[in-house]
Amino acid sequence: MAASRSDALVLFGVTGDLAHKMIFPALYAMVKRGDLNVPIVGVALPKWSLERLHRRVTDSLKRSVGIDNPRAFQHLLSLFKYVSGDYTDPNTFTAIKSALNKARRPAHYLAIPPSLFETVIKELGAAKLAERARVIVEKPFGRDLASAKELNDVARSVFPEDSIFRIDHYLGKEAIMNILYFRFANSFLEPIWNRNYVSSVQITLSEDFGVQDRGPFYESAGCLRDVIENHLFQLVALLAMEPPSDRDFGAVQREKANVFRAMRPLSRDDLVRGQYAGYRNEPGVAKNSDVETFCALRLFIDSWRWAGVPWYLRSGKHLADTATEILVELKGPPQRLFADSAPETGRTNYLRFRLSPSAAIALAARVKLAGKEFVGEQRELFLLEEQLGEEAPYERLLADAMAGDGALFTREDAVEAAWAVVDPVLKTHHRVRPYRRGTWGPKEADTIIASDGGWHNPGPKQASG
Ligand code: BG6
Repeated sequence: MAASRSDALVLFGVTGDLAHKMIFPALYAMVKRGDLNVPIVGVALPKWSLERLHRRVTDSLKRSVGIDNPRAFQHLLSLFKYVSGDYTDPNTFTAIKSALNKARRPAHYLAIPPSLFETVIKELGAAKLAERARVIVEKPFGRDLASAKELNDVARSVFPEDSIFRIDHYLGKEAIMNILYFRFANSFLEPIWNRNYVSSVQITLSEDFGVQDRGPFYESAGCLRDVIENHLFQLVALLAMEPPSDRDFGAVQREKANVFRAMRPLSRDDLVRGQYAGYRNEPGVAKNSDVETFCALRLFIDSWRWAGVPWYLRSGKHLADTATEILVELKGPPQRLFADSAPETGRTNYLRFRLSPSAAIALAARVKLAGKEFVGEQRELFLLEEQLGEEAPYERLLADAMAGDGALFTREDAVEAAWAVVDPVLKTHHRVRPYRRGTWGPKEADTIIASDGGWHNPGPKQASG
């Protein structure tokens, strides 16, 4: 039976940063597409007028996508209502209820600091605003295994699991959905997609900018919690999962959760934490902060398919470039018939997935160079190469959540299994290593991957062979 669509959106944190940067442009796009025509009740503490909120929405759109459709823009503004109130005050929720008027199946979007999730969810329950409703929460879902369990328990005491939509915006990206498609829409991959042919997998999410104005948030998170335990782990799950039994999203979710369950919990020597020069001078950052702005780690998935294959993940701020890439490196040929056919330096054959800023899937193989000698070079065959002109992830995810489609969201069991992997190193870890801005992080990060050909630094679209 198709899920019924939400008939109102309650946007907690409507005056905040996330709403301004991501959610208003997504709502505008949904209105333009004809996907949104329900009341939007914005909720926040400041005593704003509706006109003030309208100015904020206008400013957000002008700075991001631009207002290219005045009718859709006016319609979007007309959908807004505003409720000012404290999230701990039951009167706020009474006011939301009356603003919802006849709406019976609202979607509550918690675009608020994670420390307030539980309070708001409990108040929604107490005010009977959870019946037939959905709740949409942003990552991070907890800050360790214990807090994730607690949050899940609170959420589950108020909402059924299929009404809880946990957003990891990576899952709404086109290039990332393509990993699932590419793996299971092709047959050539399956015979080699295992420990017999794959020697290692590495993923880099690098950014050439710092924490910007998010110093206080970063101090409570750090790179491991901010992007590795969620975004990069989701990529690992898509690459490592077993084929789902059918197209039902429950089957995909199950297989992804199984990958997290099979991951070996990390220990302190599996990761290198780094901090860029000048981080401690950023606004809101402690002068003696030990929070990592860079993290590189090695992990193992103890499953039949992946036993013994190392997975290397790396991410950082103020690195040399902004890009996300995956390299699945294959083992060399068993016999060295040509002097350069199993290179001692350089890479063996590999598959490269570039996820941003452009999208590519390239298969690297060696071909002979013309001439008397049997020597060649590695070339990349591009199966996909495009500039991303996609629907923004928030647009897709918000529309899916309001339609009750949970395929691109994470589930309680997966969230907890992922935290269980990183939990041991959240507190027990080596101190951060400093690194210069514009580099690829501290040199200690090279040591953990040295035996597998070193890091592949994403940069220009053509990787070297
Ligand atoms: C967010 C993190 O979840 O993802 C940010 O909080 C990070 O620190 C961002 O910059 C990266 O996402 P994207 O879509 O820009 O690659």
